[in-house]
Amino acid sequence: MARMEGKVAIVTGAASGIGAATGARFRAEGATVVGWDLHGVDVDLDVRDESAIAAAVGAVVRDHGRLDAVVHAAGVAGGGPVHMVPTEEWDRVVDINLKGTFLVGKHAVAAMLVQEPVDGERGSIVNIASVEGLAGTEGGSTYNAAKGGVVILTKNMAIDYGRSGIRVNAICPGFIATPMLEGVFAMGGMEAILADITAAHQLGRLGRADEIAAAALFLCSRDASFVTGVALPVDGGYTAGHRHGVSELMGLA
Ligand SMILES: NC(=O)c1ccc[n+]([C@@H]2O[C@H](COP(=O)([O-])OP(=O)(O)OC[C@H]3O[C@@H](n4cnc5c(N)ncnc54)[C@H](O)[C@@H]3O)[C@@H](O)[C@H]2O)c1
Repeated sequence: MARMEGKVAIVTGAASGIGAATGARFRAEGATVVGWDLHGVDVDLDVRDESAIAAAVGAVVRDHGRLDAVVHAAGVAGGGPVHMVPTEEWDRVVDINLKGTFLVGKHAVAAMLVQEPVDGERGSIVNIASVEGLAGTEGGSTYNAAKGGVVILTKNMAIDYGRSGIRVNAICPGFIATPMLEGVFAMGGMEAILADITAAHQLGRLGRADEIAAAALFLCSRDASFVTGVALPVDGGYTAGHRHGVSELMGLA
């Protein structure tokens, strides 16, 4: 049986990359999906715009009767050594990645709290954070600070709303081949850095958007009925630790 049959989901960042893959997977699993993005999907909105978010959540509940799941994937890259980061750029990256998560979560939770539970659950929210929200990375500053904030905000929401039957989790993807990553690596001289980053994933490759969508599906499905407040790395082993060649020295192929 389809794992999201009868469920109503909002997916943000749905026009591209991880959000697009999540929307497609949820639809294939039987969900009614309403995609949000700046342009080109069901609802055009900016996740910094609180009144647009409130109206769009209201429309989902009015049109589809309830809101079971939210996968919040809208986000932007950005960073640099802090003394080189223009303050307006800090505000932009933090507002989209962190304040956007707050605003989407705020209005999604408000709708979920007033609906009847199904199978003991009022709703499930998945925020797409990053491995860069779990540890620092060179040049990450703004993005890492925002994604670290998303991880902690997710845990706080899990604590506040678990008793009401709302689960809130984060996914921390490794480096995933999407238009965002292509944009970052379009900068000249990045070939060796990309090879280095790829090798830091223990599986020896970058991830795919559908692999993040599969984790979001798990977290929004009944299979994850006892999972809340986690920041789940889906990262090919990027956060597992470091390799220095010791096992090879001992004869590991
Ligand atoms: N690609 C990676 O390597 C990677 C790794 C870790 C985390 N992430 C996170 O995954 C999420 C999805 O990233 P992706 O790689 O699919 O990127 P992407 O650029 O392919 O998609 C992001 C989408 O978010 C939308 N968006 C940006 N700003 C918005 C705003 N203000 N309001 C509404 N929509 C907005 C964009 O229009 C775009 O469609 C992001 O939060 C990103 O930070 C990506």
